Amino acid sequence: MFSYSKNLQNLPPYFLSRIHALKQEAYAKKLDVIDLGMGNPDLPTPPHIIERLTESVKDHPRTHRYPQAKGMPKFRSAVAEWFKGRFGVELNPEKEVLSLIGSKEGIAHLCMAYLNPGDVALVCNPGYPVHFNGVYLVGGKVHFLPITAENNYLPDLAKVPEKVARKAKLLFINYPNNPTAAVVEDLKFFSEVVAFAKKYEIVVVHDNAYSEVTFDGYSAPSFLQAPGARDVGVEFYSFSKTYNMAGWRVGFAVGNEKLIAPLEKLKSFLDYGVPTFIQLAAIWALRSSQSCVQETVKVYQKRRDFMVNGLTKMGWEVAKPKATMYLWAKVPDAYIQEGSLNFAEKLLKETGVAVAPGVGFGPYGEGFIRLALVTHDRRFHDALLRLKKMLAKGKEK
Ligand SMILES: Cc1ncc(COP(=O)(O)O)c(C=O)c1O
Repeated sequence: MFSYSKNLQNLPPYFLSRIHALKQEAYAKKLDVIDLGMGNPDLPTPPHIIERLTESVKDHPRTHRYPQAKGMPKFRSAVAEWFKGRFGVELNPEKEVLSLIGSKEGIAHLCMAYLNPGDVALVCNPGYPVHFNGVYLVGGKVHFLPITAENNYLPDLAKVPEKVARKAKLLFINYPNNPTAAVVEDLKFFSEVVAFAKKYEIVVVHDNAYSEVTFDGYSAPSFLQAPGARDVGVEFYSFSKTYNMAGWRVGFAVGNEKLIAPLEKLKSFLDYGVPTFIQLAAIWALRSSQSCVQETVKVYQKRRDFMVNGLTKMGWEVAKPKATMYLWAKVPDAYIQEGSLNFAEKLLKETGVAVAPGVGFGPYGEGFIRLALVTHDRRFHDALLRLKKMLAKGKEK
């Protein structure tokens, strides 16, 4: 019989696949689904970026050829310029910037580039699944660092057993955070991470996919702004949320030459990089006015306020996040025993509202659901009515 990789066999199906299957069933029955499950931006890519793409494809056949795998020089320069303007951090575009086919790809491959079977990675949890699945896929071991309301969603590094810290090769952090929407207010926590990483010779992977999706005047920092962070940190960025380009598959990694080089080397064996016309459009996105980002953020902020106020009014307490397009909500008491996946399934079957079950983000996500604010503005009112119905049903149980 044929068999496939044990590491892959050991992984459960991707966490949203159950919800996706139920959604398909619901669509087949012509049910009205409100999809707050996947963090898939519903807003269109801004027109000036689309125009740049179509012009390039139409008028410049050279863009149809294989791209430069690590990113064309112009792309890497545009990233370095944007980074300097945004964070005040200088990057060498030649050696400290790498284009990615989305940050998910880069993070998964970074695990492959850095870890041998049995190697340990410290991973904040709940977290974006590739932070731990990327480790499992290469036979690595995950040591979860719980991030919960009790510790302000910051891992307690002092609690990592000495033996584990000494074995660890990677540490994954992510602020603004998916799924909890937690942020860091300043560089204090990042500086602690730098000291910890230097002490134990650990590479820090900071996933900054939501750096630009921030509200109420809050601005997210780069890990590389913390003193000494450049010695230990690789940081991942995405165009998916900032410019509503999730389907375009483009992102980048930044970090010192030595830390980026293994990822660049690995990728040179695996892929040819981001299509040139997409790189050109991404350059245009970075170099044009950022008012489109402000517009997107305004929309999410309005949705956040509407949903948080509505949920609070019905007695479903949720924190008002300063960033991301997510709400991290406790499973209502009446349903807590059955777990977040069962609750999410029930919610979808009985009300047509799809959400992400917290357990999909790892063991410390159990007891929560994540609502992604990615449906048309008019639908949030309906979503609230349906959630209210579900709450009321729970109370009758
Ligand atoms: C924390 C985090 N990192 C990375 C990604 C993936 O981004 P990309 O589309 O660039 O692969 C996501 C997508 O939801 C995310 O939430």
